[in-house]
Amino acid sequence: MKLTRSITLWIICCITIFFIGCGDESSLPINEDIKKEVDIFTEREWAVIQRLSPLPATPPPNPTNRVADNPDAARLGQMFFFDERFSKDGTVACATCHSPFYGFADVEATSLGVGRGTRNAPTLLNVAYNKWQFWDGRADTLWSQALFALEGETEQAGTRLQYAHLIKRLYQDDYEAVFDPLPNLADTTRFPLEGKPGDVQFDNMTEKDKIAVNTVFANIGKAIEAYERLLISRNAPFDQYVAGDLDVIGIEAKRGLKIFIGKGVCILCHDNPNFTDNEFHNLGVPQGKLPEDTGRYDGIKQLLDNPFNGGGPYSDAPEIPQRILNFLEPTQRHQGQFKTPTLRNVALTAPYFHTGEFPTLNSIIDFNNAGGVPSGFVGMREGTLEPLNLTEQEANDLVEFLLTLTGQSPLEYLLRKPDLP
Ligand code: HEC
Ligand code: HEC
Repeated sequence: MKLTRSITLWIICCITIFFIGCGDESSLPINEDIKKEVDIFTEREWAVIQRLSPLPATPPPNPTNRVADNPDAARLGQMFFFDERFSKDGTVACATCHSPFYGFADVEATSLGVGRGTRNAPTLLNVAYNKWQFWDGRADTLWSQALFALEGETEQAGTRLQYAHLIKRLYQDDYEAVFDPLPNLADTTRFPLEGKPGDVQFDNMTEKDKIAVNTVFANIGKAIEAYERLLISRNAPFDQYVAGDLDVIGIEAKRGLKIFIGKGVCILCHDNPNFTDNEFHNLGVPQGKLPEDTGRYDGIKQLLDNPFNGGGPYSDAPEIPQRILNFLEPTQRHQGQFKTPTLRNVALTAPYFHTGEFPTLNSIIDFNNAGGVPSGFVGMREGTLEPLNLTEQEANDLVEFLLTLTGQSPLEYLLRKPDLP
């Protein structure tokens, strides 16, 4: 008797809690359009989804580059981007590995420039929304990123003195319309034809002349950044859906979105309208046959050592970047961490991960679904990564969702190699 009564009481209690719970949900204001989708998403899920769209129309300002939003600088930067003479042997430009035909990436697992690199080329679409550049974040601005590529052994492999002379020979008027006049480069005893730090030709120059050449070099990067800031790709089917066009994506993609923000916990790192937390994580991606890669650990060291970082003498606004740099110090935690990449336009840029060893989006989901692999990577895998127990259909739904993130192409003139001097 007593037992029946307490069971009854317990049931009433549960029912009450259930209704209070429901009441909580339906008491939130509900938009008419969204109401049609309530069989798929709760109000709370909609609130989360709205964090992912739209991508702001313009990237955050970059005060470290005075000409970041100068159209003449962008026009110049577009020429530099496509000009293969900006390389050791005249055969490699930025566009070699960041081709407009492949979502401003390439199809290689690891890129081939003057040499073969050890990492996969990321897309440059929406790159100006990134807080850090490179998989290891060793650049804190787009302009300093470009300088790594211009002198990198496996990328363009030229030297800053070579590039300064190239500007003098081919681009002087366009350059001086945007930046201060060039130094007197005609004097090749003061300014040898080639060289960078570590080469005797450069190291033997006076401090003042080194600074003059470094300034030209930094300005090349600043013009390229002005161009890259225009490579914006927004208004993907996913954005149109969130804006209220409910039929623009299919039911599979909608289910995939639900997994993305729920069971798949993807949103833990791929958050914000650019689908990245702008942070670094160790997912335990295996290095395969590639050399050991410490990722963010070495990235922080290189960032702090770089005179072209946002806090350095070539920055147009060093104070705030320097304050951020002051907090950075490589620790064991950073070993094997890589940057969370954007997922916008991800369908255009196979293969995937920093190693480029994952050929399809399905292979990424399989990797995540299994909670990673047991070994073959650097450092410690992040503790939050566990098997997801997704069914095959759920995995396919997630891929369908990722396919809805392909945005509109940047303006046509930005995709073409301009006439070069
Ligand atoms: C040989 C191929 C190659 C060339 C040439 C090249 N890149 Fe890259 N780029 C890559 C690879 C590979 C990475 C990733 C490397 C890493 O993270 O260490 C990358 C990374 C980047 C990034 C960082 C993107 C992100 O999301 O982190 C930007 C920006 C970029 N490149 C712009 C340029 C520009 C501008 C040029 C020309 C000055 C250029 N690249 C030349 C292959 C290349
Ligand atoms: C703990 C943070 C974290 C979580 C959770 C996470 N990712 Fe990622 N994601 C990353 C990082 C970091 C990388 C780059 C890893 C690397 O290359 O070493 C990445 C890479 C990717 C890539 C490859 C993109 C490219 O351009 O190479 C895709 C696709 C992706 N994630 C989708 C997902 C999906 C879908 C989920 C949910 C099932 C998910 N991620 C969960 C952090 C995360």
